[in-house]
Amino acid sequence: MPLFLTIETTCDETAAALVTDQLEVLSSVVASQDKLHQKYGGVVPELASRAHMERILPVIHETIVRAGVKLDDITAVAVAYTPGLAGSLLVGLTAAKALCVALDRPLIAINHLQAHIYACRMAAGEDVFPCVGLVISGGHTCLYRCLNALDFELLGSTLDDAAGEAFDKVAAMLKLPYPGGPSIEKAAIGGDPKKYKFPRAFLDNPDCLDFSFSGLKTAVRYAITGPGRHDCSQVDLPKQTVADLAASFQEAVVDCLVGKSLQALEATGLSTLCVGGGVAANRRLRERLEEEARERNIRLIIAPPRLCTDNAVMGAIAVERWRAKLFAPLDLDVEPGVVRRDTASRK
Ligand code: KG4
Ligand code: ZN
Repeated sequence: MPLFLTIETTCDETAAALVTDQLEVLSSVVASQDKLHQKYGGVVPELASRAHMERILPVIHETIVRAGVKLDDITAVAVAYTPGLAGSLLVGLTAAKALCVALDRPLIAINHLQAHIYACRMAAGEDVFPCVGLVISGGHTCLYRCLNALDFELLGSTLDDAAGEAFDKVAAMLKLPYPGGPSIEKAAIGGDPKKYKFPRAFLDNPDCLDFSFSGLKTAVRYAITGPGRHDCSQVDLPKQTVADLAASFQEAVVDCLVGKSLQALEATGLSTLCVGGGVAANRRLRERLEEEARERNIRLIIAPPRLCTDNAVMGAIAVERWRAKLFAPLDLDVEPGVVRRDTASRK
Protein backbone atom coordinates (compact mmCIF):
# COMPACT_ATOMS: atom_id res chain seq x y z
CA MET A 1 0.00 0.00 0.00
CA PRO A 2 1.55 3.34 -1.02
CA LEU A 3 2.38 5.34 2.10
CA PHE A 4 3.30 9.01 2.41
CA LEU A 5 5.18 10.83 5.14
CA THR A 6 4.11 14.48 5.18
CA ILE A 7 6.12 17.14 7.01
CA GLU A 8 4.97 20.62 8.07
CA THR A 9 7.24 23.33 9.54
CA THR A 10 6.06 26.51 7.82
CA CYS A 11 5.53 28.60 10.95
CA ASP A 12 5.41 27.54 14.59
CA GLU A 13 4.05 24.00 14.54
CA THR A 14 6.33 21.03 13.94
CA ALA A 15 4.10 18.34 12.44
CA ALA A 16 4.26 15.05 10.59
CA ALA A 17 1.66 12.54 9.41
CA LEU A 18 1.47 9.24 7.61
CA VAL A 19 -1.30 8.86 5.02
CA THR A 20 -2.10 6.19 2.48
CA ASP A 21 -2.92 6.69 -1.20
CA GLN A 22 -6.57 6.20 -0.16
CA LEU A 23 -6.19 9.27 2.11
CA GLU A 24 -6.42 7.18 5.24
CA VAL A 25 -4.54 8.84 8.10
CA LEU A 26 -2.40 6.31 9.99
CA SER A 27 -0.90 8.82 12.42
CA SER A 28 -0.53 12.54 12.94
CA VAL A 29 1.70 14.37 15.41
CA VAL A 30 1.73 18.14 16.04
CA ALA A 31 4.19 19.83 18.41
CA SER A 32 2.91 23.36 18.99
CA GLN A 33 5.21 26.24 19.93
CA ASP A 34 2.38 28.48 21.23
CA LYS A 35 3.85 28.57 24.77
CA LEU A 36 7.30 29.50 23.47
CA HIS A 37 6.04 32.60 21.61
CA GLN A 38 3.28 33.58 24.03
CA LYS A 39 5.32 36.09 26.01
CA TYR A 40 6.30 37.96 22.83
CA GLY A 41 2.70 38.25 21.58
CA GLY A 42 3.66 36.72 18.20
CA VAL A 43 5.96 34.21 16.52
CA VAL A 44 9.69 35.03 16.85
CA PRO A 45 11.21 33.56 13.66
CA GLU A 46 14.60 32.53 15.05
CA LEU A 47 13.06 30.85 18.10
CA ALA A 48 10.65 29.04 15.77
CA SER A 49 13.47 27.66 13.58
CA ARG A 50 15.46 26.51 16.60
CA ALA A 51 12.43 24.80 18.12
CA HIS A 52 11.74 23.03 14.80
CA MET A 53 15.37 21.89 14.79
CA GLU A 54 14.94 20.32 18.22
CA ARG A 55 11.60 18.69 17.48
CA ILE A 56 11.63 17.62 13.86
CA LEU A 57 13.24 14.19 14.30
CA PRO A 58 11.34 13.25 17.49
CA VAL A 59 8.07 14.26 15.77
CA ILE A 60 8.85 12.17 12.68
CA HIS A 61 9.92 9.26 14.88
CA GLU A 62 6.72 9.46 16.93
CA THR A 63 4.63 9.56 13.73
CA ILE A 64 6.27 6.37 12.45
CA VAL A 65 5.97 4.58 15.81
CA ARG A 66 2.29 5.51 16.25
CA ALA A 67 1.44 4.21 12.79
CA GLY A 68 3.24 0.93 13.51
CA VAL A 69 5.22 1.10 10.25
CA LYS A 70 8.90 1.23 9.35
CA LEU A 71 10.70 4.08 7.60
CA ASP A 72 11.38 1.71 4.76
CA ASP A 73 7.61 1.29 4.12
CA ILE A 74 7.33 4.93 3.00
CA THR A 75 6.68 5.49 -0.71
CA ALA A 76 7.50 9.22 -0.83
CA VAL A 77 8.28 12.10 1.50
CA ALA A 78 6.25 15.30 1.18
CA VAL A 79 7.06 18.66 2.72
CA ALA A 80 5.59 22.15 2.74
CA TYR A 81 8.15 24.37 0.97
CA THR A 82 6.02 27.52 0.56
CA PRO A 83 4.93 29.97 1.97
CA GLY A 84 6.14 30.59 5.50
CA LEU A 85 9.09 31.71 7.60
CA ALA A 86 12.30 30.94 5.69
CA GLY A 87 14.15 29.49 8.69
CA SER A 88 11.19 27.30 9.65
CA LEU A 89 10.64 26.03 6.10
CA LEU A 90 14.34 25.14 5.78
CA VAL A 91 14.21 22.76 8.74
CA GLY A 92 11.32 20.70 7.29
CA LEU A 93 12.72 20.73 3.77
CA THR A 94 16.18 19.65 4.91
CA ALA A 95 14.76 16.78 6.97
CA ALA A 96 12.58 15.68 4.04
CA LYS A 97 15.49 15.77 1.58
CA ALA A 98 17.71 13.80 3.94
CA LEU A 99 15.05 11.09 4.27
CA CYS A 100 14.58 10.98 0.49
CA VAL A 101 18.30 10.48 -0.07
CA ALA A 102 18.65 7.90 2.72
CA LEU A 103 15.60 5.88 1.62
CA ASP A 104 15.96 6.54 -2.11
CA ARG A 105 12.40 7.83 -2.36
CA PRO A 106 10.93 10.76 -4.30
CA LEU A 107 10.37 14.20 -2.77
CA ILE A 108 6.97 15.90 -3.11
CA ALA A 109 6.69 19.67 -2.65
CA ILE A 110 3.57 20.96 -0.93
CA ASN A 111 2.14 24.47 -1.09
CA HIS A 112 1.05 25.09 2.51
CA LEU A 113 -1.91 27.30 1.53
CA GLN A 114 -3.23 24.71 -0.90
CA ALA A 115 -2.81 22.14 1.86
CA HIS A 116 -5.00 24.31 4.14
CA ILE A 117 -7.76 24.00 1.52
CA TYR A 118 -7.07 20.29 1.11
CA ALA A 119 -7.87 19.97 4.83
CA CYS A 120 -11.48 20.44 3.66
CA ARG A 121 -11.09 17.52 1.23
CA MET A 122 -9.79 15.39 4.11
CA ALA A 123 -12.69 16.45 6.33
CA ALA A 124 -15.33 15.95 3.61
CA GLY A 125 -14.15 12.44 2.76
CA GLU A 126 -15.09 13.13 -0.89
CA ASP A 127 -14.07 15.36 -3.76
CA VAL A 128 -14.53 19.10 -3.15
CA PHE A 129 -13.16 20.47 -6.44
CA PRO A 130 -13.80 22.75 -8.26
CA CYS A 131 -14.27 25.25 -5.46
CA VAL A 132 -13.45 28.67 -4.14
CA GLY A 133 -10.86 28.25 -1.37
CA LEU A 134 -10.42 30.71 1.47
CA VAL A 135 -7.27 30.37 3.57
CA ILE A 136 -7.25 32.47 6.71
CA SER A 137 -4.28 32.03 8.99
CA GLY A 138 -1.82 33.96 11.10
CA GLY A 139 0.35 34.71 8.09
CA HIS A 140 -2.06 34.66 5.13
CA THR A 141 -5.48 35.63 3.92
CA CYS A 142 -5.99 34.30 0.39
CA LEU A 143 -8.90 33.53 -1.91
CA TYR A 144 -8.33 30.92 -4.62
CA ARG A 145 -10.17 29.52 -7.58
CA CYS A 146 -9.31 25.82 -7.19
CA LEU A 147 -10.06 23.97 -10.41
CA ASN A 148 -8.69 20.70 -9.04
CA ALA A 149 -6.18 19.64 -6.38
CA LEU A 150 -3.31 20.63 -8.69
CA ASP A 151 -4.50 23.90 -10.16
CA PHE A 152 -5.03 26.84 -7.82
CA GLU A 153 -5.34 30.44 -9.02
CA LEU A 154 -4.97 33.26 -6.53
CA LEU A 155 -7.99 35.61 -6.81
CA GLY A 156 -7.13 37.96 -3.98
CA SER A 157 -5.12 38.28 -0.80
CA THR A 158 -4.44 40.71 1.99
CA LEU A 159 -2.59 43.89 1.12
CA ASP A 160 -1.24 44.22 4.66
CA ASP A 161 -2.02 42.18 7.79
CA ALA A 162 -3.41 38.64 7.62
CA ALA A 163 -6.74 38.06 9.36
CA GLY A 164 -5.11 35.99 12.13
CA GLU A 165 -2.36 38.58 12.55
CA ALA A 166 -5.04 41.27 13.03
CA PHE A 167 -6.68 39.09 15.72
CA ASP A 168 -3.29 38.64 17.41
CA LYS A 169 -2.39 42.35 17.29
CA VAL A 170 -5.80 43.57 18.45
CA ALA A 171 -5.72 41.01 21.27
CA ALA A 172 -2.37 42.46 22.38
CA MET A 173 -3.90 45.97 22.35
CA LEU A 174 -6.74 44.69 24.53
CA LYS A 175 -4.21 42.95 26.81
CA LEU A 176 -5.64 39.54 25.94
CA PRO A 177 -3.31 36.52 25.72
CA TYR A 178 -1.66 35.11 22.58
CA PRO A 179 -2.82 33.54 20.30
CA GLY A 180 -5.30 36.38 19.87
CA GLY A 181 -8.02 34.63 17.85
CA PRO A 182 -9.34 32.36 20.61
CA SER A 183 -8.86 35.14 23.22
CA ILE A 184 -10.89 37.65 21.20
CA GLU A 185 -13.55 35.06 20.45
CA LYS A 186 -13.88 34.38 24.18
CA ALA A 187 -13.81 38.07 25.17
CA ALA A 188 -16.46 38.87 22.52
CA ILE A 189 -19.05 36.70 24.27
CA GLY A 190 -21.41 39.17 25.92
CA GLY A 191 -20.04 42.05 23.82
CA ASP A 192 -22.10 44.18 21.44
CA PRO A 193 -20.88 43.67 17.84
CA LYS A 194 -22.61 46.91 16.77
CA LYS A 195 -21.19 49.12 19.52
CA TYR A 196 -18.23 50.36 17.43
CA LYS A 197 -18.49 51.16 13.71
CA PHE A 198 -15.22 49.75 12.40
CA PRO A 199 -14.19 49.86 8.70
CA ARG A 200 -14.71 46.94 6.29
CA ALA A 201 -12.12 47.51 3.55
CA PHE A 202 -13.23 47.00 -0.09
CA LEU A 203 -16.45 45.31 0.98
CA ASP A 204 -18.55 47.48 -1.33
CA ASN A 205 -16.38 46.70 -4.35
CA PRO A 206 -17.06 43.22 -5.78
CA ASP A 207 -14.36 43.74 -8.43
CA CYS A 208 -11.69 43.68 -5.74
CA LEU A 209 -11.19 40.34 -4.00
CA ASP A 210 -8.36 41.62 -1.81
CA PHE A 211 -8.44 42.23 1.92
CA SER A 212 -6.93 44.91 4.17
CA PHE A 213 -7.02 44.82 7.95
CA SER A 214 -4.52 47.50 8.95
CA GLY A 215 -7.11 50.32 8.87
CA LEU A 216 -9.39 48.24 11.08
CA LYS A 217 -6.51 47.62 13.48
CA THR A 218 -5.77 51.36 13.68
CA ALA A 219 -9.47 52.10 14.24
CA VAL A 220 -9.46 49.70 17.22
CA ARG A 221 -6.31 51.37 18.56
CA TYR A 222 -7.93 54.82 18.53
CA ALA A 223 -11.12 53.43 20.05
CA ILE A 224 -8.93 52.22 22.96
CA THR A 225 -6.63 55.22 23.40
CA GLY A 226 -8.77 58.09 22.13
CA PRO A 227 -7.67 60.29 19.20
CA GLY A 228 -4.04 61.39 18.93
CA ARG A 229 -2.68 58.79 21.36
CA HIS A 230 -1.11 55.46 20.45
CA ASP A 231 -0.05 53.57 23.53
CA CYS A 232 -2.71 51.02 24.48
CA SER A 233 -0.57 49.69 27.34
CA GLN A 234 -1.38 52.83 29.38
CA VAL A 235 -5.14 52.26 29.14
CA ASP A 236 -7.11 50.02 31.48
CA LEU A 237 -10.52 49.31 30.01
CA PRO A 238 -13.61 48.04 31.83
CA LYS A 239 -14.43 44.39 31.05
CA GLN A 240 -17.62 45.33 29.15
CA THR A 241 -15.70 47.76 26.91
CA VAL A 242 -13.18 45.02 26.10
CA ALA A 243 -16.08 42.71 25.25
CA ASP A 244 -17.73 45.34 23.01
CA LEU A 245 -14.44 46.15 21.24
CA ALA A 246 -13.66 42.44 20.74
CA ALA A 247 -17.16 41.72 19.39
CA SER A 248 -17.17 44.77 17.08
CA PHE A 249 -13.70 43.95 15.75
CA GLN A 250 -14.56 40.27 15.23
CA GLU A 251 -17.77 41.23 13.40
CA ALA A 252 -15.84 43.54 11.04
CA VAL A 253 -13.31 40.80 10.17
CA VAL A 254 -16.09 38.25 9.71
CA ASP A 255 -18.05 40.65 7.44
CA CYS A 256 -15.00 41.03 5.20
CA LEU A 257 -14.21 37.31 5.06
CA VAL A 258 -17.82 36.30 4.38
CA GLY A 259 -18.45 39.17 1.94
CA LYS A 260 -15.34 38.53 -0.18
CA SER A 261 -15.99 34.77 -0.26
CA LEU A 262 -19.50 35.39 -1.61
CA GLN A 263 -18.13 37.83 -4.19
CA ALA A 264 -15.53 35.23 -5.26
CA LEU A 265 -18.24 32.58 -5.70
CA GLU A 266 -20.25 35.07 -7.77
CA ALA A 267 -17.22 36.03 -9.90
CA THR A 268 -16.20 32.43 -10.63
CA GLY A 269 -19.66 30.93 -10.95
CA LEU A 270 -18.63 28.19 -8.52
CA SER A 271 -20.96 26.88 -5.82
CA THR A 272 -18.57 25.13 -3.41
CA LEU A 273 -16.67 27.09 -0.75
CA CYS A 274 -13.81 25.48 1.22
CA VAL A 275 -12.43 27.34 4.22
CA GLY A 276 -9.23 26.48 6.07
CA GLY A 277 -6.52 28.01 8.27
CA GLY A 278 -6.39 28.90 11.95
CA VAL A 279 -9.01 31.67 11.79
CA ALA A 280 -11.56 29.21 10.35
CA ALA A 281 -11.81 27.84 13.90
CA ASN A 282 -13.71 31.05 14.81
CA ARG A 283 -17.25 30.19 15.81
CA ARG A 284 -18.83 33.49 14.77
CA LEU A 285 -17.30 33.13 11.30
CA ARG A 286 -18.52 29.54 11.00
CA GLU A 287 -22.02 30.56 12.06
CA ARG A 288 -22.19 33.40 9.52
CA LEU A 289 -20.82 31.26 6.68
CA GLU A 290 -23.33 28.52 7.49
CA GLU A 291 -26.22 31.03 7.40
CA GLU A 292 -25.15 32.37 4.00
CA ALA A 293 -24.56 28.88 2.61
CA ARG A 294 -28.07 27.78 3.62
CA GLU A 295 -29.67 30.86 2.06
CA ARG A 296 -27.73 30.69 -1.19
CA ASN A 297 -27.45 26.95 -1.71
CA ILE A 298 -23.69 26.96 -1.40
CA ARG A 299 -21.87 23.74 -0.58
CA LEU A 300 -19.78 24.85 2.38
CA ILE A 301 -16.91 22.85 3.83
CA ILE A 302 -15.03 24.35 6.77
CA ALA A 303 -12.13 22.34 8.07
CA PRO A 304 -12.74 21.09 11.62
CA PRO A 305 -10.67 23.00 14.25
CA ARG A 306 -7.98 20.29 14.54
CA LEU A 307 -7.39 20.56 10.77
CA CYS A 308 -7.66 24.39 10.75
CA THR A 309 -4.49 25.10 12.67
CA ASP A 310 -1.23 23.87 11.16
CA ASN A 311 -0.97 20.10 10.89
CA ALA A 312 0.51 17.56 8.48
CA VAL A 313 -2.71 15.66 7.68
CA MET A 314 -3.60 18.38 5.17
CA GLY A 315 -0.28 17.53 3.49
CA ALA A 316 -2.18 14.55 2.04
CA ILE A 317 -2.51 16.82 -1.01
CA ALA A 318 0.85 15.17 -1.80
CA VAL A 319 -1.05 12.02 -2.85
CA GLU A 320 -2.60 14.02 -5.73
CA ARG A 321 0.84 15.20 -6.83
CA TRP A 322 2.20 11.63 -6.58
CA ARG A 323 -0.64 10.36 -8.80
CA ALA A 324 0.27 13.04 -11.35
CA LYS A 325 3.98 12.13 -10.98
CA LEU A 326 4.82 15.68 -9.88
CA PHE A 327 8.02 15.15 -7.97
CA ALA A 328 10.34 17.89 -6.77
CA PRO A 329 14.10 18.06 -7.49
CA LEU A 330 16.47 17.52 -4.58
CA ASP A 331 17.86 21.04 -5.05
CA LEU A 332 14.44 22.53 -4.30
CA ASP A 333 14.69 25.74 -2.27
CA VAL A 334 12.10 27.18 0.11
CA GLU A 335 9.80 29.96 -1.17
CA PRO A 336 8.71 32.15 1.75
CA GLY A 337 6.33 34.32 -0.34
CA VAL A 338 2.91 33.47 -1.80
CA VAL A 339 3.05 31.77 -5.21
CA ARG A 340 0.37 33.34 -7.47
CA ARG A 341 -0.44 30.38 -9.70
CA ASP A 342 0.78 26.88 -9.02
CA THR A 343 -0.42 24.51 -11.70
CA ALA A 344 0.42 20.93 -12.59
CA SER A 345 2.31 22.05 -15.67
CA ARG A 346 4.57 24.39 -13.78
CA LYS A 347 5.97 21.99 -11.17
O1 KG4 B 1 -3.14 28.38 10.39
P1 KG4 B 1 -2.52 28.76 11.69
O2 KG4 B 1 -2.49 27.74 12.78
O3 KG4 B 1 -1.03 29.18 11.52
C1 KG4 B 1 -0.55 29.88 10.43
O4 KG4 B 1 -0.24 29.26 9.40
O5 KG4 B 1 -0.51 31.12 10.58
O6 KG4 B 1 -3.24 30.09 12.18
C2 KG4 B 1 -2.93 30.73 13.38
C3 KG4 B 1 -3.82 31.96 13.49
C4 KG4 B 1 -3.45 32.85 14.68
O7 KG4 B 1 -3.31 34.18 14.22
C5 KG4 B 1 -4.64 32.72 15.63
O8 KG4 B 1 -4.89 33.89 16.38
C6 KG4 B 1 -5.76 32.42 14.65
O9 KG4 B 1 -5.19 31.59 13.69
N1 KG4 B 1 -6.89 31.74 15.32
C7 KG4 B 1 -8.12 32.26 15.41
C8 KG4 B 1 -8.89 31.35 16.19
N2 KG4 B 1 -8.09 30.28 16.51
C9 KG4 B 1 -6.86 30.54 15.95
N3 KG4 B 1 -8.63 33.41 14.95
C10 KG4 B 1 -9.92 33.69 15.24
N4 KG4 B 1 -10.71 32.88 15.99
C11 KG4 B 1 -10.24 31.70 16.47
N5 KG4 B 1 -11.02 30.91 17.21
ZN1 ZN C 1 -1.03 27.57 8.18
